[in-house]
Amino acid sequence: MERAIGVFDSGVGGLTVVNSIRSLLPNENIIYIGDNYHCPYGDKTPEQLFSYASGIVEYFIEQNVKMIVLACNTTSSTVLDKLQAVYSNMTIIGVIDATVDDFINRNVDNTLIIATAATIKSNKYPDTIKKINPHITTYSLATPKLVPLVESGMYKEGIYEVLHEYFDSYAGKIKSIILGCTHYPILKEQIKRVLPNIEYISSSEAICKNIKEILESKNLLNTQPNKYIKIYTTGETDEFRYSSSGFFDYTGLKVEHIIIK
Ligand code: DGL
Repeated sequence: MERAIGVFDSGVGGLTVVNSIRSLLPNENIIYIGDNYHCPYGDKTPEQLFSYASGIVEYFIEQNVKMIVLACNTTSSTVLDKLQAVYSNMTIIGVIDATVDDFINRNVDNTLIIATAATIKSNKYPDTIKKINPHITTYSLATPKLVPLVESGMYKEGIYEVLHEYFDSYAGKIKSIILGCTHYPILKEQIKRVLPNIEYISSSEAICKNIKEILESKNLLNTQPNKYIKIYTTGETDEFRYSSSGFFDYTGLKVEHIIIK
């Protein structure tokens, strides 16, 4: 029960998932890895993504974690099945199914799925939605400029020019938006100013319910107060901390560098 949950993403984006875990499951110990050395993941091939993800999964297995969360839509939509097949003794989950469930439960049609180029190319979101209800109208849009703007911290100055360029043509046309990249909830308030009065579905929040259900079913929820949250980046610790300060609470926590083989 006290074993940690291993969580990873290409950078600071997956910390939005850690935020959700901290509020829904505050007892859980967490080890987080931001793979900034390879960031962004969105322009990588499935072969590259599998190689990065399997290195991290193996590290987590060495650390004896109780489950691994792909806090990343890009790896969830491209290499999750393969990771689950190769590391079949470990519980490994991704964000797509939980996000689609959340979307379906809200009964809102006309949705815009925004995600990285690799996630959009995989068609995983529209395919999963249409398997459940083929009549739902979906639009898919790759928004590759957003992750670098978050990772560089430039989003803090406001990035409305880019948001208008991406979203103006959807205003009035959609009733909901799926933030299909864990970096995007960081931009939610800014996106809301360009696309107001629609429903926002976030993969970072949706996944947490799923984590809780799985741990509950295996009787693995930690009943003791947590002892640690470890945050690692394969990139520069100062940059990582700068771009995530503002949406992530570092009280009592530090960011450490890690090399993944
Ligand atoms: N935050 C990740 C995702 O949800 C990866 C983004 C990227 O590195 O391109 O897709």
